[in-house]
Amino acid sequence: MYSSFSNKHLITTQDWTVEEIEKCLNTAKRLKENRQLNIPHDHILRSKTFFMLFFEESTRTRNSFEAGITQLGGHAIFLTPRATQIDHGETAKDTIKVLTRYGDGIGIRKTYGEGNRYMREVARYSEIPVINMQCEDYHPTQALADLLTIKEKFGDNLRGKKFVISWTYAPNYIRPLSMPQSLILLMPRFGMDVTLAHPEEFSLKPEIVEQAKANAREAGVKFNIVSNMEEAFEDAHIVYAKSWGPIMHTKDKKEGLALIEKYPDWMVDKRKMEIALKEAIYMHCMPADRDIEVTSEVLDGPQSVIYDEAENRLHINKALMALTMAHI
Ligand code: CP
Repeated sequence: MYSSFSNKHLITTQDWTVEEIEKCLNTAKRLKENRQLNIPHDHILRSKTFFMLFFEESTRTRNSFEAGITQLGGHAIFLTPRATQIDHGETAKDTIKVLTRYGDGIGIRKTYGEGNRYMREVARYSEIPVINMQCEDYHPTQALADLLTIKEKFGDNLRGKKFVISWTYAPNYIRPLSMPQSLILLMPRFGMDVTLAHPEEFSLKPEIVEQAKANAREAGVKFNIVSNMEEAFEDAHIVYAKSWGPIMHTKDKKEGLALIEKYPDWMVDKRKMEIALKEAIYMHCMPADRDIEVTSEVLDGPQSVIYDEAENRLHINKALMALTMAHI
């Protein structure tokens, strides 16, 4: 039986309706229970192949997709531009037209440069589902795993819950905007009031912020932008704090790193977490810069759910592959 998910691409969560995302979350929950109860589910993608094309490094994304398809009975192939003819200039069209003849789905990570344009070009010519494993604008599989984690902690009705995504200091490299942009788009659609906090030079893409505001209006929830971390944390249920680069302000790496150095106080510690509600959770997609972005006391403390988030990457990715590749 073919479902509405058959060969459906996921470049951003905006491509999927709330109902489709709910189905993905419910499928992930079922697959998580099956794994916990040792119920075999390796028939779902038996003999199916998932290509993973990485232009950059990864711990969680690669390993959760690869372990995930193994558990579903299929096989993953790890590809890089150097391991293929992409580095010799083979086009997105020719690459995917050929891979479509061999396998059943493809994930792509291309975070720097025109990653989004590249994966949309692949999707245009692909007859198999294309999953965005992170581009410069979006990281949808991480955001979905985060939403699953929030639902596990606070239940399905998230109306009235305050979700804060805050910039943090982290001076060693310029991180993309994909995580905060994905979170501000997704969380309002599931009933949360969203507050985005960052110093002025660390704004997000205006068109994505406008889309997030439209999502919030449609869902009847609040959307605020503040430039003070402590103000943002007041009454928060969810504190998601991580670094990103001043990409909208400057393309110059040296200038960008100097701008980050202006804000060493934007670090999450126990005192700041005490501004949030008692039941607040701390989230980070990882890798986290320990004792730079956030203290180890918070990362390893009772409010931190970072390893649950990382685990949920596995269950969400299995659900995405099962729904789009197995036609369940
Ligand atoms: N959060 C995340 O995407 O981690 P990796 O970069 O290790 O895949």
